[in-house]
Amino acid sequence: MKQWIGAAFAAMLAASCTPPEVTEFTDTLIPQPEHWNETSAESLIVTGQWNWTVDSTWDPVLPVWQEWMRGSQWNDDATEVELKMIRVEGLPEEGYELEVQKSGVTVRASTEAGAFHALTTLRWMIPLEPLEKTALPCGVIQDAPRFPHRGLLLDCCRHFMQPEFVKRMIDLLALHKMNVLHWHLTEDQGWRIEIDAYPRLTEIGAWRTEADGSTHGGFYTKDQIRDIVAYAASRHVMVIPEIELPGHSNAALAAYPWLGCTGEQMDVPHDWGVFKDIYCAGSDSTFEFLETVLDEVLELFPSTYIHIGGDEAPKVRWEACAKCQHRIAAEGLQDEHELQSWFIGRIGRYLESKGRKMIGWDEILEGGLPAGATVQSWRGMEGGRAAIAAGNDAIMSPTSHCYFDYPVESTDLEEVYGFEPVPNDVQGTGRILGGECNMWTERAPQDLVDSKVFPRLVAMSEVLWSQPAQRDWSNFQSRMVQHYPRLDAWGVKYGWETVPISMQWHAGKSNEALEVQFLPAMTGVQGTAAFVPLGQSEPEVSHPLNVLFRIIGEGEIQVNLIRKGASMGVPWTFPVAGHVGAFQKIELEHELNTYYPGRGEQGLADGRLGSHDFRDGSWQAVQGRDMGLTIELPEPVRIDSLSMQFYRYQDAWIFLPDSLQFQWSNDGVTWVGDWLMGKDVFGEMTFTPNESQDVNRAAVSVNAEAKWVRFTARNPGVCPDWHEAASSETWMFLDELVVHTTAP
Ligand code: ACM
Ligand code: ZN
Repeated sequence: MKQWIGAAFAAMLAASCTPPEVTEFTDTLIPQPEHWNETSAESLIVTGQWNWTVDSTWDPVLPVWQEWMRGSQWNDDATEVELKMIRVEGLPEEGYELEVQKSGVTVRASTEAGAFHALTTLRWMIPLEPLEKTALPCGVIQDAPRFPHRGLLLDCCRHFMQPEFVKRMIDLLALHKMNVLHWHLTEDQGWRIEIDAYPRLTEIGAWRTEADGSTHGGFYTKDQIRDIVAYAASRHVMVIPEIELPGHSNAALAAYPWLGCTGEQMDVPHDWGVFKDIYCAGSDSTFEFLETVLDEVLELFPSTYIHIGGDEAPKVRWEACAKCQHRIAAEGLQDEHELQSWFIGRIGRYLESKGRKMIGWDEILEGGLPAGATVQSWRGMEGGRAAIAAGNDAIMSPTSHCYFDYPVESTDLEEVYGFEPVPNDVQGTGRILGGECNMWTERAPQDLVDSKVFPRLVAMSEVLWSQPAQRDWSNFQSRMVQHYPRLDAWGVKYGWETVPISMQWHAGKSNEALEVQFLPAMTGVQGTAAFVPLGQSEPEVSHPLNVLFRIIGEGEIQVNLIRKGASMGVPWTFPVAGHVGAFQKIELEHELNTYYPGRGEQGLADGRLGSHDFRDGSWQAVQGRDMGLTIELPEPVRIDSLSMQFYRYQDAWIFLPDSLQFQWSNDGVTWVGDWLMGKDVFGEMTFTPNESQDVNRAAVSVNAEAKWVRFTARNPGVCPDWHEAASSETWMFLDELVVHTTAP
């Protein structure tokens, strides 16, 4: 034992004579501790002067504690508070007891991690603001995590993040008792880790040229990585590097083209998607390369686990590569899926020979799961279940709850809080190590990352630490209110808990108009809504929330929101069209799909258009079928033109129609309007993979009076040969049939 006197917290305020209010910290802590027993009605008065007695093997926790306490200013006229940190045997790994007595605080733990978690609890028990004194109720917290693996995946490849930003994220993880930073370091769009044996990986592979000619990139030097790993270790966060293979490797192939099957020179891609060029599985030099890279990685990262990716590896190159086909034959494999399994297995054995264990995305199940590999389940929970059935471990991060790159419209705070990482049928196996939230940065440069990760990570921290029986959404919400000032103190630019407004809309009195109103869906939200007609950049009028306003014609509503007096970043946008077809009688020729019903029967004629997010709820989609609808207007009107929007995202199997037809009629019997070929409307369908996502539009001139309008789109058939899902049925996404009338 040794003594350490903490007198770092300067005197700022005069002493007060009135006794402080007792802080009922158990109503504010996140994640919720497992047990709390009040032991007496007395309280401990904390003044900021700590007299430490710390088990000497735990010295490393003190500098972090000091750093975290900086900013809290205290009155130093009062007596010191005893803080004893004692090692005891028999507490759970990472568990601790924290006892508050009138005379001071005692922490008991079996591990340094446990002692550290006790300090994170204590940190939130003490107010952040300068204050004179605070009183803590006397009692004992007994706490331990539910899962050993509580992580955040940070994709520093699609967008590079500064080392200081990564370190701050590590503090925020630690403060929420999260203990894994899954650091995504290699990708198609950027190689971010310095490798001495292969300097071109960062000379070439770390930089991409954007469509506008600008350069984006960066990489971490070995010194920076060592510094970050040590920083994380001092906060009991393990950094697990992810070195992606065999797919998501275009940046490496751009640096060393001989790593791919074709050997062709390529650029570091600047767009997003799943690329067909991957490491050649037939060439021994691929494995020499990967083993050398891994040797250097293992030198930098002490983690038992190394993540090797394994997801989204198209097989077209392997199918056409003589070396890969030779490998399949030589190893007695059935097909390219087994070749992938062989590839992953070979890397897994290499890691095992170095005393490490492998984690891979759930695609590593395909063609046979290598022994000892841990599966990270992302395409739902099924991969985790399958891993457990095979006797392996799993980490859960399904897109349904854990993808923090998704907007809150898809995954809000309540949904994250409701995440249960252990499906009923695998309870008690102990094979689910925990979960991760995944922060992919395809659409989130560093400046946006906070707003995606927070506050959702706070909910996830409780999901992964606390016991399921303690889960209580309304109680969490009230603790969350008290948690925001802590995030503020850390300068976290958190986003919304959920969509903060609801849009209500219906047909207006004139049948060309839509009447729209935005209602706050959370307390404390204010703002304005404004309609920007198509082709204009500025709105004409702004309306406060709650005010009903009229829209005629097509355009975008922009809603600017304010919370706590501050503007909340970019506006929320809603593409709309006030037109004569909206809310008129509609008949569909296709059946609604359960996943993409696009606001139901009326959805293709309800004035609300699909946005740049195909999951926004407006898009109506079916797979492998044609789509069609007829609208009957209340009376004949002079129609100027008809238009329809289509979503295209070939990587997600969403294709444009093969052909389409707009028709109109005055009697519902005789129809006018020709078939159009998709290639004439949208340009030749090159069927190149990795199209970025976009909204496409088709329109025809009408210049006639009509009472009925009709639209039909033919499905383009199955995904073409180059596609990862070749021969699977394609999707078509539509919204909406807009009837444009000549302006009155
Ligand atoms: C993943 O989201 N492709 C693992
Ligand atoms: Zn090959």
